[in-house]
Amino acid sequence: MHVSFNLAADLDQALKAAATAAGLADADAFAPEVRTADPRHADFQANGVLGYAKARKLNPRATAEALVRALPADLATHYTITIAGPGFINFTLAPATLLAWLRAYDSAAQLKAGAAAAHAGQTWVVDYSSPNTAKQMHVGHLRSAVIGEAICRLLEFTGARVVRDNHLGDWGTQFGKLIYGYKRWVDPVALKNDAIEELERLYKLGNNATPEGSPELDEARRELVKLQTGDPENVALWQTFSEVSLAAFQQIYDRLGIRFDHNLGESFYNDKVDRVYRELSETALAENSEGALVVFHDEHPRFSRHAERPNPFMVRKADGASGYASTDLATALYRTEHFKADGIVVVTDFRQADHFEQLFLTVRKWFAAKKYRVPELHHVTFGAVTGEDGKALKTRSGDVIKLKALLDEAVERALAIVSEKNPDLPEAERSEIARIVGIGAVQYADLSQNRSSNYVFSWDKMLALDGNTAPYLLYAVARIHSIFRKAGVAPDDRATESAVAPLETPAELALARKLTKFPDAIRIASETLRPHYLSLYLFELAGDYSFFNNSDKVLVDDPGVRARRLLLCARTLLMLETGLNLLGLRTLTRM
Ligand code: ARG
Repeated sequence: MHVSFNLAADLDQALKAAATAAGLADADAFAPEVRTADPRHADFQANGVLGYAKARKLNPRATAEALVRALPADLATHYTITIAGPGFINFTLAPATLLAWLRAYDSAAQLKAGAAAAHAGQTWVVDYSSPNTAKQMHVGHLRSAVIGEAICRLLEFTGARVVRDNHLGDWGTQFGKLIYGYKRWVDPVALKNDAIEELERLYKLGNNATPEGSPELDEARRELVKLQTGDPENVALWQTFSEVSLAAFQQIYDRLGIRFDHNLGESFYNDKVDRVYRELSETALAENSEGALVVFHDEHPRFSRHAERPNPFMVRKADGASGYASTDLATALYRTEHFKADGIVVVTDFRQADHFEQLFLTVRKWFAAKKYRVPELHHVTFGAVTGEDGKALKTRSGDVIKLKALLDEAVERALAIVSEKNPDLPEAERSEIARIVGIGAVQYADLSQNRSSNYVFSWDKMLALDGNTAPYLLYAVARIHSIFRKAGVAPDDRATESAVAPLETPAELALARKLTKFPDAIRIASETLRPHYLSLYLFELAGDYSFFNNSDKVLVDDPGVRARRLLLCARTLLMLETGLNLLGLRTLTRM
């Protein structure tokens, strides 16, 4: 029996064909909207009939009936099909089809092959983390890194070639003051031990020593001009700043499982902004305003020249300098031309929403005027990180929390929990578990909620063994591994599966049904670029598994029952491990 991977998508197609076959008016415009249904009623539900029928003054129920009659006959062997309420079509999978689905999709490669249609053949550039050099990464950069990596993995899993690009903030006027401070007060030992800490100290010294109007400020400005005009000494210093910063960032990325393909920082676009000025002027998109080059969007209430407080997109400043806007315009062009991007995703906090809205408006008009292909453009935003008191997360002394310290604390806390629960495990194994659980808890706490909300940072919540947390899910994974150890077979051992008997108990059926919704969870998470849809699915799956595990003993004597229960364990493990890995977590076989 052939069953398709994404059952919801399959039903959607079947209903569209049925609309044509049934001769419905305007059949091309009918969108069945097949979605995962409330499990108490059905597996899938077509929600689109009602709106379609109403808009055309048809009777929704009669329309639903006509559609069901026109469905291919063999669909009824796979589903119980009913019409509910005013015109919803419900599909409930037959147990034999459920089992066939579970047997067909039996490896990560199979799952990926099934999911790959969504972005097959496309290239997506994802710009995430993107911290400023010579500065500590803080918790805001953690969110961008964690969410960005999960999005990269989801896009890759759904077929895209993903270019991971770290758009470092490595250019700007602050480097004049930093060089000024560095030349006077650098402490080579401190630089070696903690480069970023030392660079931050030197910038502060430089900044304090160069007040407005002072000859020292003129000197710092001269250092900046020297850097911008290619003075070898200053360029070498600036290169050192970038290198030591990147090396420090990489230590964090290693712990989070992140590898960038490119670190094309703002400086990379220095020689690419002239083309932006030229083309935006040529196409009359940009105009001169008091010496600056700006773009207005008159169709937009806030970016129009008639707005109460006009706020144009500043392409070139009056003093001739480039800035964040020009660099990002050049970046969009480079990603489109050089990487041949079909999609571009930039992950930053919500405070940059206006900038990216203006950027994308400008890019769309500019590319259309020049007849360049316009890629899909997405600004993926996230809320602030706050403490449990609702205030911005800070150290006790009021400083920003350094990411390194935060990750260290996560691992330490996880180690304390593991050591208490499992005092007999060898020390090395406990540390390894603590690393995976601690870092995973931080990642998962961020990814398990809608990224648009503020994120309340709570050690106790993220490390709890129950609730929608990494420890809970990692524990479910380890527990399934232990069943296979007890059974003396490997989870991917197909030999046990040949004896499988039909699914029977309510807990078996509920778990099997949930497993078939994995494709839909992946689809929603990757289409909306919101990983929490996948987290929620994994959490619910773990819940259904736990119910199954408590009600049905797996290792029974009857070979058929034992085989089908082991099959359910193996697929739950596969979906949990694949899903957690897509979120950037590592998993354990023992905990
Ligand atoms: N460096 C910026 C920051 O730390 C983020 C850059 C995001 N990417 C971009 N293309 N603007 O806030």
